[in-house]
Amino acid sequence: MSSSIEEIVENIFINEEKGTLSKISKYIKLLFKWHQTNNIVSSSNIDYVIKREIYDSYQFTKLLSGNSFIDIGSGGGIPGIIIALLKPNATVNLIDRKTTFINFLLLAKAELKLKNVNVVQDDIFRKGITFDAETVVMKNFSNKKISKMKYEEKFSFMMNIIKSNGTVSKAYMLTGSPVLELSKECVSKFLLSTSEISSPFFSTSRYVVEVRFEDSVNS
Ligand SMILES: C[S@@+](CC[C@H](N)C(=O)[O-])C[C@H]1O[C@@H](n2cnc3c(N)ncnc32)[C@H](O)[C@@H]1O
Repeated sequence: MSSSIEEIVENIFINEEKGTLSKISKYIKLLFKWHQTNNIVSSSNIDYVIKREIYDSYQFTKLLSGNSFIDIGSGGGIPGIIIALLKPNATVNLIDRKTTFINFLLLAKAELKLKNVNVVQDDIFRKGITFDAETVVMKNFSNKKISKMKYEEKFSFMMNIIKSNGTVSKAYMLTGSPVLELSKECVSKFLLSTSEISSPFFSTSRYVVEVRFEDSVNS
């Protein structure tokens, strides 16, 4: 017999308080309810999404410092909503350009009573956009404009967009192993550091990349 969302969440996030666990479960239920008609998560397998997407985002959040975040290309709120749930004193702005995602994020904000969340419908490539937060976060950002680029080109393009449009001092990206192959030039240009998130559920790890902008070299 398959386990309920609450049971999976309780078995995974063993160090969290009951209140946080019930909010994480409520968020996942909302996500999959909306997913049935709007396709907003990467997979329809609830167990997989909890153990891969939500758990990795939880580990990601534990590595973040700062009090204001922007999740760009937030989609269904991964990782932004997890950050907002675990860091109630931080402000989290969730940006997406698509109305389907924005409607879901507004619903999740209301249902989960997330006073620290702002939902923003915008195009991050729009001329004149500003990112007013200390820290940008992102996971699986995808867009036609960058889809044909090689990993390093895509990475540099995104970091230059973030750097040139606001007051952001750091960016964190939850990503896969290609980040380990970035050139030395790219690593030093963006003052980049990488840490591994090992998973108790999967053989492949994900990585958290931290980029510091305040002293990084202009392109
Ligand atoms: C693959 S989804 C990732 C969603 C979420 N971060 C996750 O990991 O589940 C990429 C998201 O980026 C958004 N996106 C693509 N281009 C964008 C743009 N130019 N401005 C804002 N959002 C954009 C899409 O609408 C989509 O929600």
